[in-house]
Amino acid sequence: MLIPSNVCFYNYFPGIIYILVIMLILNKTVQVFFKPSKRKVDGFLRSFNFHPGTLFLHKIVLGIETSCDDTAAAVVDETGNVLGEAIHSQTEVHLKTGGIIPPVAQQLHRENIQRIVQEALCASGICPSELSAIATTIKPGLALSLGVGLSFSLQLVDQLKKPFIPIHHMEAHALTIRLTNKVEFPFLVLLISGGHCLLALVRGVSDFLLLGKSLDIAPGDMLDKVARRLSLIKHPECSTMSGGKAIEHLAKQGNRFHFDMNPPMQRAKNCDFSFTGLQHVIDKIIMQKEKEEGIEKGQILSSAADIAAAVQHTTACHIAKRTHRAILFCKQRDLLSQSNAVLVVSGGVASNLYIRRALEIVTNATQCTLLCPPPRLCTDNGIMIAWNGIERLRAGLGILDNIEGIRYEPKCPLGVDISKEVAEAAIKVPRLKMKI
Ligand code: KG4
Ligand code: ZN
Repeated sequence: MLIPSNVCFYNYFPGIIYILVIMLILNKTVQVFFKPSKRKVDGFLRSFNFHPGTLFLHKIVLGIETSCDDTAAAVVDETGNVLGEAIHSQTEVHLKTGGIIPPVAQQLHRENIQRIVQEALCASGICPSELSAIATTIKPGLALSLGVGLSFSLQLVDQLKKPFIPIHHMEAHALTIRLTNKVEFPFLVLLISGGHCLLALVRGVSDFLLLGKSLDIAPGDMLDKVARRLSLIKHPECSTMSGGKAIEHLAKQGNRFHFDMNPPMQRAKNCDFSFTGLQHVIDKIIMQKEKEEGIEKGQILSSAADIAAAVQHTTACHIAKRTHRAILFCKQRDLLSQSNAVLVVSGGVASNLYIRRALEIVTNATQCTLLCPPPRLCTDNGIMIAWNGIERLRAGLGILDNIEGIRYEPKCPLGVDISKEVAEAAIKVPRLKMKI
Protein backbone atom coordinates (compact mmCIF):
# COMPACT_ATOMS: atom_id res chain seq x y z
CA MET A 1 0.00 0.00 0.00
CA LEU A 2 1.47 3.36 -1.05
CA ILE A 3 -0.60 5.69 1.11
CA PRO A 4 -2.91 4.55 3.91
CA SER A 5 -6.29 5.66 2.62
CA ASN A 6 -8.36 5.12 5.73
CA VAL A 7 -6.49 6.84 8.55
CA CYS A 8 -8.28 10.13 9.07
CA PHE A 9 -10.17 12.18 11.57
CA TYR A 10 -13.46 12.17 9.65
CA ASN A 11 -13.74 8.41 9.71
CA TYR A 12 -14.60 8.66 13.40
CA PHE A 13 -17.68 10.80 12.73
CA PRO A 14 -19.45 9.29 9.73
CA GLY A 15 -22.89 9.79 11.25
CA ILE A 16 -22.51 13.54 11.79
CA ILE A 17 -20.99 14.07 8.38
CA TYR A 18 -23.73 12.13 6.57
CA ILE A 19 -26.38 14.18 8.34
CA LEU A 20 -24.59 17.38 7.30
CA VAL A 21 -24.34 16.17 3.73
CA ILE A 22 -28.02 15.26 3.58
CA MET A 23 -28.88 18.73 4.93
CA LEU A 24 -26.67 20.34 2.30
CA ILE A 25 -28.16 18.23 -0.48
CA LEU A 26 -31.65 19.17 0.60
CA ASN A 27 -30.67 22.83 0.80
CA LYS A 28 -29.11 22.76 -2.68
CA THR A 29 -32.00 20.81 -4.12
CA VAL A 30 -34.49 23.37 -2.90
CA GLN A 31 -32.37 26.22 -4.33
CA VAL A 32 -31.99 24.55 -7.69
CA PHE A 33 -35.39 23.05 -8.28
CA PHE A 34 -37.36 26.01 -7.03
CA LYS A 35 -36.64 27.66 -10.41
CA PRO A 36 -35.43 24.71 -12.51
CA SER A 37 -33.34 25.24 -15.66
CA LYS A 38 -31.14 22.78 -17.53
CA ARG A 39 -28.03 24.78 -16.68
CA LYS A 40 -28.85 24.79 -12.96
CA VAL A 41 -29.66 21.10 -12.86
CA ASP A 42 -26.43 20.23 -14.73
CA GLY A 43 -24.42 22.47 -12.43
CA PHE A 44 -26.08 20.86 -9.41
CA LEU A 45 -25.20 17.36 -10.55
CA ARG A 46 -21.65 18.32 -11.46
CA SER A 47 -20.97 19.91 -8.07
CA PHE A 48 -20.95 16.58 -6.25
CA ASN A 49 -18.25 13.92 -6.06
CA PHE A 50 -19.89 10.56 -5.83
CA HIS A 51 -16.84 8.62 -4.67
CA PRO A 52 -17.51 6.32 -1.72
CA GLY A 53 -16.29 8.04 1.40
CA THR A 54 -16.07 11.40 -0.34
CA LEU A 55 -18.03 13.85 1.67
CA PHE A 56 -16.79 17.19 0.40
CA LEU A 57 -18.89 19.15 -2.01
CA HIS A 58 -16.01 20.72 -3.87
CA LYS A 59 -13.07 19.48 -5.85
CA ILE A 60 -9.70 18.63 -4.28
CA VAL A 61 -6.70 17.55 -6.34
CA LEU A 62 -3.37 16.00 -5.39
CA GLY A 63 -0.62 17.28 -7.71
CA ILE A 64 2.71 15.46 -8.21
CA GLU A 65 5.75 16.96 -9.96
CA THR A 66 9.01 15.17 -10.83
CA SER A 67 9.87 16.50 -14.30
CA CYS A 68 13.35 17.75 -13.44
CA ASP A 69 15.17 18.02 -10.12
CA ASP A 70 12.39 18.77 -7.62
CA THR A 71 10.19 16.11 -6.05
CA ALA A 72 7.05 18.04 -5.17
CA ALA A 73 3.46 17.38 -4.19
CA ALA A 74 0.51 19.50 -3.08
CA VAL A 75 -3.17 19.29 -2.30
CA VAL A 76 -5.23 22.19 -3.64
CA ASP A 77 -8.97 22.79 -3.64
CA GLU A 78 -11.02 24.45 -6.33
CA THR A 79 -11.04 27.84 -4.66
CA GLY A 80 -7.24 27.86 -4.85
CA ASN A 81 -6.63 27.03 -1.20
CA VAL A 82 -3.36 25.18 -0.77
CA LEU A 83 -4.34 22.57 1.80
CA GLY A 84 -0.92 20.94 2.01
CA GLU A 85 2.39 20.89 0.19
CA ALA A 86 5.85 19.35 0.37
CA ILE A 87 8.96 19.62 -1.76
CA HIS A 88 12.39 18.03 -1.88
CA SER A 89 14.91 20.04 -3.89
CA GLN A 90 17.95 18.35 -5.41
CA THR A 91 19.68 21.68 -6.21
CA GLU A 92 22.45 21.24 -3.64
CA VAL A 93 23.43 17.81 -5.00
CA HIS A 94 23.43 19.00 -8.62
CA LEU A 95 25.39 22.17 -7.78
CA LYS A 96 28.21 19.95 -6.50
CA THR A 97 28.31 17.83 -9.67
CA GLY A 98 28.11 20.91 -11.93
CA GLY A 99 24.74 20.06 -13.47
CA ILE A 100 21.91 17.53 -13.36
CA ILE A 101 22.96 13.92 -13.92
CA PRO A 102 19.66 12.20 -14.90
CA PRO A 103 20.24 8.82 -13.14
CA VAL A 104 21.15 10.72 -9.94
CA ALA A 105 17.97 12.79 -10.23
CA GLN A 106 15.96 9.59 -10.82
CA GLN A 107 17.42 7.92 -7.73
CA LEU A 108 16.69 10.97 -5.56
CA HIS A 109 13.09 11.12 -6.84
CA ARG A 110 12.70 7.41 -5.99
CA GLU A 111 14.05 7.95 -2.50
CA ASN A 112 11.76 10.88 -1.76
CA ILE A 113 8.49 10.61 -3.64
CA GLN A 114 6.54 8.52 -1.17
CA ARG A 115 7.58 10.73 1.79
CA ILE A 116 6.81 13.95 -0.09
CA VAL A 117 3.33 12.82 -1.21
CA GLN A 118 2.57 11.56 2.28
CA GLU A 119 3.74 14.86 3.81
CA ALA A 120 1.55 16.92 1.46
CA LEU A 121 -1.47 14.72 2.21
CA CYS A 122 -0.89 14.77 5.97
CA ALA A 123 -0.45 18.55 5.98
CA SER A 124 -3.74 18.91 4.10
CA GLY A 125 -5.61 16.97 6.77
CA ILE A 126 -7.80 15.22 4.23
CA CYS A 127 -8.23 11.50 3.53
CA PRO A 128 -6.83 10.27 0.21
CA SER A 129 -10.33 8.90 -0.40
CA GLU A 130 -11.61 12.49 -0.44
CA LEU A 131 -9.49 13.48 -3.42
CA SER A 132 -11.38 14.26 -6.62
CA ALA A 133 -8.39 13.33 -8.81
CA ILE A 134 -4.63 12.90 -8.98
CA ALA A 135 -2.73 15.17 -11.40
CA THR A 136 0.87 14.44 -12.39
CA THR A 137 3.40 16.00 -14.76
CA ILE A 138 3.92 13.56 -17.62
CA LYS A 139 5.54 15.97 -20.17
CA PRO A 140 7.99 17.50 -21.06
CA GLY A 141 11.03 16.86 -18.87
CA LEU A 142 13.82 14.41 -18.11
CA ALA A 143 12.65 10.92 -19.06
CA LEU A 144 14.08 9.23 -15.98
CA SER A 145 12.56 11.85 -13.66
CA LEU A 146 9.13 11.86 -15.31
CA GLY A 147 9.07 8.06 -15.11
CA VAL A 148 9.33 8.05 -11.30
CA GLY A 149 6.41 10.45 -10.83
CA LEU A 150 4.25 8.69 -13.37
CA SER A 151 4.71 5.15 -12.10
CA PHE A 152 4.16 6.24 -8.49
CA SER A 153 1.01 8.16 -9.50
CA LEU A 154 -0.42 5.28 -11.52
CA GLN A 155 -0.07 2.93 -8.56
CA LEU A 156 -1.79 5.49 -6.35
CA VAL A 157 -4.58 6.01 -8.88
CA ASP A 158 -5.08 2.26 -9.02
CA GLN A 159 -5.07 1.93 -5.23
CA LEU A 160 -7.44 4.83 -4.55
CA LYS A 161 -9.62 4.34 -7.68
CA LYS A 162 -9.42 8.02 -8.57
CA PRO A 163 -9.43 9.73 -11.97
CA PHE A 164 -5.97 10.63 -13.35
CA ILE A 165 -5.13 13.99 -14.96
CA PRO A 166 -1.90 14.00 -17.00
CA ILE A 167 -0.27 17.45 -16.86
CA HIS A 168 1.89 19.38 -19.34
CA HIS A 169 4.54 21.05 -17.17
CA MET A 170 4.51 24.32 -19.19
CA GLU A 171 0.72 24.54 -19.13
CA ALA A 172 0.93 24.30 -15.35
CA HIS A 173 3.54 27.10 -15.16
CA ALA A 174 1.35 29.27 -17.39
CA LEU A 175 -1.88 28.78 -15.42
CA THR A 176 -0.36 29.29 -11.94
CA ILE A 177 -1.15 33.00 -12.07
CA ARG A 178 -4.89 32.20 -12.03
CA LEU A 179 -4.43 30.68 -8.58
CA THR A 180 -2.92 33.87 -7.15
CA ASN A 181 -4.61 36.60 -9.24
CA LYS A 182 -7.91 37.09 -10.98
CA VAL A 183 -6.70 36.76 -14.56
CA GLU A 184 -9.09 36.03 -17.41
CA PHE A 185 -8.17 34.45 -20.76
CA PRO A 186 -6.55 35.49 -23.03
CA PHE A 187 -3.20 36.59 -21.64
CA LEU A 188 0.39 36.46 -22.81
CA VAL A 189 2.89 34.30 -20.93
CA LEU A 190 6.68 34.36 -20.88
CA LEU A 191 8.21 31.25 -19.31
CA ILE A 192 11.93 31.54 -18.54
CA SER A 193 13.83 29.02 -16.45
CA GLY A 194 16.71 26.56 -16.57
CA GLY A 195 14.86 24.25 -18.93
CA HIS A 196 12.28 26.45 -20.64
CA CYS A 197 12.10 29.60 -22.67
CA LEU A 198 8.92 30.43 -24.56
CA LEU A 199 6.34 33.07 -25.32
CA ALA A 200 2.74 31.92 -25.70
CA LEU A 201 -0.75 33.32 -25.87
CA VAL A 202 -2.99 31.54 -23.37
CA ARG A 203 -6.54 31.45 -24.76
CA GLY A 204 -7.92 28.76 -22.43
CA VAL A 205 -6.95 25.98 -20.03
CA SER A 206 -5.49 23.89 -22.81
CA ASP A 207 -5.58 26.38 -25.67
CA PHE A 208 -2.16 27.91 -26.38
CA LEU A 209 -0.60 29.68 -29.35
CA LEU A 210 3.18 29.36 -29.30
CA LEU A 211 4.68 32.66 -30.54
CA GLY A 212 8.36 31.89 -29.99
CA LYS A 213 10.86 29.76 -28.10
CA SER A 214 14.58 29.36 -27.59
CA LEU A 215 16.32 27.88 -30.60
CA ASP A 216 19.03 26.45 -28.35
CA ILE A 217 19.33 26.62 -24.56
CA ALA A 218 17.17 28.35 -21.93
CA PRO A 219 18.35 31.56 -20.20
CA GLY A 220 18.68 29.86 -16.80
CA ASP A 221 20.87 27.18 -18.37
CA MET A 222 23.10 29.86 -19.90
CA LEU A 223 23.35 31.77 -16.58
CA ASP A 224 24.15 28.50 -14.77
CA LYS A 225 26.94 27.77 -17.29
CA VAL A 226 28.39 31.29 -16.97
CA ALA A 227 28.26 31.07 -13.16
CA ARG A 228 30.06 27.72 -13.32
CA ARG A 229 32.70 29.09 -15.69
CA LEU A 230 33.23 32.01 -13.28
CA SER A 231 33.51 29.46 -10.40
CA LEU A 232 30.95 31.41 -8.39
CA ILE A 233 30.38 28.36 -6.19
CA LYS A 234 33.75 29.28 -4.63
CA HIS A 235 32.62 32.88 -4.04
CA PRO A 236 31.89 33.31 -0.30
CA GLU A 237 28.63 35.19 -0.98
CA CYS A 238 27.30 32.84 -3.69
CA SER A 239 28.30 29.31 -2.70
CA THR A 240 24.76 28.05 -2.04
CA MET A 241 23.00 30.00 -4.80
CA SER A 242 21.82 28.70 -8.16
CA GLY A 243 23.83 30.10 -11.09
CA GLY A 244 21.18 32.66 -12.05
CA LYS A 245 20.76 33.91 -8.51
CA ALA A 246 24.54 34.16 -8.07
CA ILE A 247 24.78 36.26 -11.28
CA GLU A 248 21.99 38.56 -10.05
CA HIS A 249 23.66 38.93 -6.65
CA LEU A 250 27.14 39.69 -8.04
CA ALA A 251 25.82 41.97 -10.80
CA LYS A 252 24.72 44.47 -8.16
CA GLN A 253 28.41 45.04 -7.33
CA GLY A 254 29.53 45.27 -10.95
CA ASN A 255 29.61 47.78 -13.81
CA ARG A 256 27.94 46.50 -16.97
CA PHE A 257 29.60 49.18 -19.11
CA HIS A 258 33.02 47.54 -18.64
CA PHE A 259 32.04 44.95 -21.23
CA ASP A 260 30.37 45.43 -24.53
CA MET A 261 27.95 42.62 -25.41
CA ASN A 262 25.27 42.72 -28.09
CA PRO A 263 21.89 41.09 -27.48
CA PRO A 264 21.47 38.03 -29.76
CA MET A 265 19.27 37.86 -32.90
CA GLN A 266 18.90 41.62 -33.31
CA ARG A 267 18.07 41.30 -37.01
CA ALA A 268 15.59 38.42 -36.71
CA LYS A 269 12.13 40.00 -36.54
CA ASN A 270 10.51 37.08 -34.71
CA CYS A 271 9.86 36.11 -31.10
CA ASP A 272 12.45 33.34 -30.87
CA PHE A 273 15.36 33.42 -28.45
CA SER A 274 18.98 32.24 -28.48
CA PHE A 275 21.50 32.07 -25.66
CA THR A 276 24.32 29.81 -26.88
CA GLY A 277 26.04 32.56 -28.89
CA LEU A 278 26.02 34.89 -25.87
CA GLN A 279 27.45 32.11 -23.73
CA HIS A 280 30.35 31.65 -26.18
CA VAL A 281 31.05 35.41 -26.24
CA ILE A 282 31.22 35.39 -22.43
CA ASP A 283 33.48 32.30 -22.45
CA LYS A 284 35.91 34.19 -24.70
CA ILE A 285 35.81 37.28 -22.46
CA ILE A 286 36.52 35.14 -19.38
CA MET A 287 39.44 33.41 -21.10
CA GLN A 288 40.87 36.78 -22.14
CA LYS A 289 40.49 38.18 -18.62
CA GLU A 290 42.12 35.11 -17.07
CA LYS A 291 45.13 35.74 -19.30
CA GLU A 292 45.23 39.45 -18.42
CA GLU A 293 44.87 38.86 -14.69
CA GLY A 294 47.30 35.92 -14.82
CA ILE A 295 44.97 33.50 -13.03
CA GLU A 296 44.10 29.85 -13.65
CA LYS A 297 40.70 28.53 -14.74
CA GLY A 298 38.78 27.82 -11.53
CA GLN A 299 39.90 30.93 -9.65
CA ILE A 300 37.65 33.95 -9.29
CA LEU A 301 38.35 36.89 -11.59
CA SER A 302 38.50 40.39 -10.12
CA SER A 303 36.17 41.40 -12.96
CA ALA A 304 33.58 38.66 -12.21
CA ALA A 305 31.00 41.17 -10.94
CA ASP A 306 31.37 43.34 -14.08
CA ILE A 307 30.95 40.27 -16.28
CA ALA A 308 27.86 39.23 -14.28
CA ALA A 309 26.37 42.73 -14.68
CA ALA A 310 26.98 42.74 -18.44
CA VAL A 311 25.55 39.25 -19.03
CA GLN A 312 22.50 40.02 -16.92
CA HIS A 313 21.85 43.27 -18.81
CA THR A 314 22.29 41.65 -22.23
CA THR A 315 19.99 38.75 -21.25
CA ALA A 316 17.36 41.20 -19.96
CA CYS A 317 17.49 43.27 -23.19
CA HIS A 318 17.15 40.15 -25.37
CA ILE A 319 14.18 38.81 -23.40
CA ALA A 320 12.53 42.25 -23.28
CA LYS A 321 12.83 42.81 -27.05
CA ARG A 322 11.29 39.44 -28.01
CA THR A 323 8.48 39.98 -25.49
CA HIS A 324 7.84 43.49 -26.82
CA ARG A 325 7.41 42.06 -30.33
CA ALA A 326 5.03 39.38 -29.02
CA ILE A 327 2.84 42.05 -27.38
CA LEU A 328 2.77 44.12 -30.57
CA PHE A 329 1.92 41.05 -32.69
CA CYS A 330 -0.97 40.04 -30.40
CA LYS A 331 -2.35 43.56 -30.36
CA GLN A 332 -2.00 43.93 -34.12
CA ARG A 333 -4.00 40.71 -34.62
CA ASP A 334 -6.53 41.58 -31.91
CA LEU A 335 -5.48 38.53 -29.93
CA LEU A 336 -5.02 40.66 -26.80
CA SER A 337 -7.01 43.58 -25.46
CA GLN A 338 -5.68 46.94 -26.74
CA SER A 339 -5.96 48.67 -23.38
CA ASN A 340 -6.13 45.90 -20.81
CA ALA A 341 -3.59 43.26 -21.88
CA VAL A 342 -1.80 41.10 -19.32
CA LEU A 343 1.75 39.73 -19.53
CA VAL A 344 2.49 36.91 -17.08
CA VAL A 345 6.14 36.02 -16.43
CA SER A 346 7.08 32.83 -14.65
CA GLY A 347 9.88 30.25 -14.26
CA GLY A 348 13.01 30.41 -12.10
CA VAL A 349 14.57 33.26 -14.12
CA ALA A 350 11.41 35.34 -13.53
CA SER A 351 12.55 35.81 -9.94
CA ASN A 352 15.38 38.02 -11.30
CA LEU A 353 14.41 41.58 -10.40
CA TYR A 354 16.64 43.17 -13.05
CA ILE A 355 14.94 41.16 -15.80
CA ARG A 356 11.53 42.02 -14.30
CA ARG A 357 12.38 45.72 -14.43
CA ALA A 358 13.36 45.39 -18.10
CA LEU A 359 9.99 43.76 -18.77
CA GLU A 360 8.25 46.51 -16.81
CA ILE A 361 9.74 49.06 -19.21
CA VAL A 362 8.14 47.09 -22.05
CA THR A 363 4.74 46.72 -20.39
CA ASN A 364 4.69 50.43 -19.46
CA ALA A 365 5.41 51.35 -23.07
CA THR A 366 2.65 49.06 -24.37
CA GLN A 367 -0.06 49.72 -21.73
CA CYS A 368 0.07 46.16 -20.44
CA THR A 369 -0.11 44.83 -16.90
CA LEU A 370 2.89 42.75 -15.78
CA LEU A 371 2.10 39.93 -13.37
CA CYS A 372 4.48 37.40 -11.79
CA PRO A 373 3.54 34.62 -9.37
CA PRO A 374 5.43 34.80 -6.05
CA PRO A 375 8.97 33.30 -6.35
CA ARG A 376 8.06 29.96 -4.71
CA LEU A 377 5.38 29.46 -7.39
CA CYS A 378 7.68 30.65 -10.23
CA THR A 379 10.00 27.69 -9.70
CA ASP A 380 8.88 24.06 -10.02
CA ASN A 381 6.37 23.02 -7.35
CA GLY A 382 3.48 20.67 -6.69
CA ILE A 383 0.91 23.44 -6.23
CA MET A 384 0.94 24.41 -9.92
CA ILE A 385 0.33 20.79 -10.91
CA ALA A 386 -2.59 20.39 -8.50
CA TRP A 387 -4.02 23.74 -9.66
CA ASN A 388 -3.72 22.67 -13.30
CA GLY A 389 -5.68 19.56 -12.26
CA ILE A 390 -8.39 21.80 -10.76
CA GLU A 391 -8.51 23.93 -13.93
CA ARG A 392 -8.87 20.80 -16.06
CA LEU A 393 -11.52 19.33 -13.75
CA ARG A 394 -13.54 22.54 -13.97
CA ALA A 395 -13.20 22.66 -17.75
CA GLY A 396 -13.84 18.90 -18.08
CA LEU A 397 -10.63 18.41 -20.06
CA GLY A 398 -8.27 15.41 -20.03
CA ILE A 399 -9.65 13.56 -16.99
CA LEU A 400 -8.89 9.88 -17.36
CA ASP A 401 -10.75 7.01 -15.73
CA ASN A 402 -8.73 4.51 -17.74
CA ILE A 403 -4.96 4.81 -17.32
CA GLU A 404 -4.01 2.01 -19.69
CA GLY A 405 -1.25 2.92 -22.14
CA ILE A 406 -0.43 6.25 -20.53
CA ARG A 407 3.22 7.22 -21.16
CA TYR A 408 5.49 10.12 -20.27
CA GLU A 409 6.81 12.32 -23.08
CA PRO A 410 10.24 13.93 -22.55
CA LYS A 411 9.66 16.29 -25.49
CA CYS A 412 6.30 17.89 -26.09
CA PRO A 413 5.60 21.31 -27.61
CA LEU A 414 3.03 23.59 -26.01
CA GLY A 415 -0.02 24.46 -28.08
CA VAL A 416 -0.20 25.43 -31.75
CA ASP A 417 3.08 26.79 -33.08
CA ILE A 418 2.47 30.06 -34.95
CA SER A 419 6.06 31.31 -34.71
CA LYS A 420 6.38 31.30 -38.54
CA GLU A 421 3.39 33.61 -38.82
CA VAL A 422 4.96 35.86 -36.21
CA ALA A 423 8.22 35.95 -38.19
CA GLU A 424 6.35 36.72 -41.44
CA ALA A 425 4.68 39.69 -39.77
CA ALA A 426 8.25 41.03 -39.27
CA ILE A 427 7.16 43.60 -36.71
CA LYS A 428 9.70 46.34 -36.09
CA VAL A 429 10.02 46.98 -32.38
CA PRO A 430 10.52 50.62 -31.33
CA ARG A 431 13.74 51.18 -29.41
CA LEU A 432 13.23 51.56 -25.66
CA LYS A 433 15.76 53.06 -23.24
CA MET A 434 16.74 50.18 -20.96
CA LYS A 435 17.75 52.35 -18.01
CA ILE A 436 17.42 49.81 -15.22
O1 KG4 B 1 11.96 26.98 -12.79
P1 KG4 B 1 13.22 26.41 -12.20
O2 KG4 B 1 13.25 26.18 -10.72
O3 KG4 B 1 13.57 25.03 -12.83
C1 KG4 B 1 13.53 24.77 -14.18
O4 KG4 B 1 14.55 25.08 -14.83
O5 KG4 B 1 12.50 24.28 -14.62
O6 KG4 B 1 14.40 27.39 -12.64
C2 KG4 B 1 15.73 27.20 -12.29
C3 KG4 B 1 16.57 28.15 -13.08
C4 KG4 B 1 18.06 27.94 -12.89
O7 KG4 B 1 18.68 27.96 -14.15
C5 KG4 B 1 18.48 29.15 -12.07
O8 KG4 B 1 19.81 29.54 -12.31
C6 KG4 B 1 17.51 30.20 -12.51
O9 KG4 B 1 16.28 29.51 -12.70
N1 KG4 B 1 17.34 31.25 -11.52
C7 KG4 B 1 17.60 32.55 -11.74
C8 KG4 B 1 17.36 33.23 -10.51
N2 KG4 B 1 16.94 32.31 -9.59
C9 KG4 B 1 16.92 31.10 -10.23
N3 KG4 B 1 18.03 33.18 -12.83
C10 KG4 B 1 18.21 34.51 -12.75
N4 KG4 B 1 18.02 35.23 -11.63
C11 KG4 B 1 17.59 34.63 -10.48
N5 KG4 B 1 17.39 35.35 -9.38
ZN1 ZN C 1 9.54 24.34 -14.72
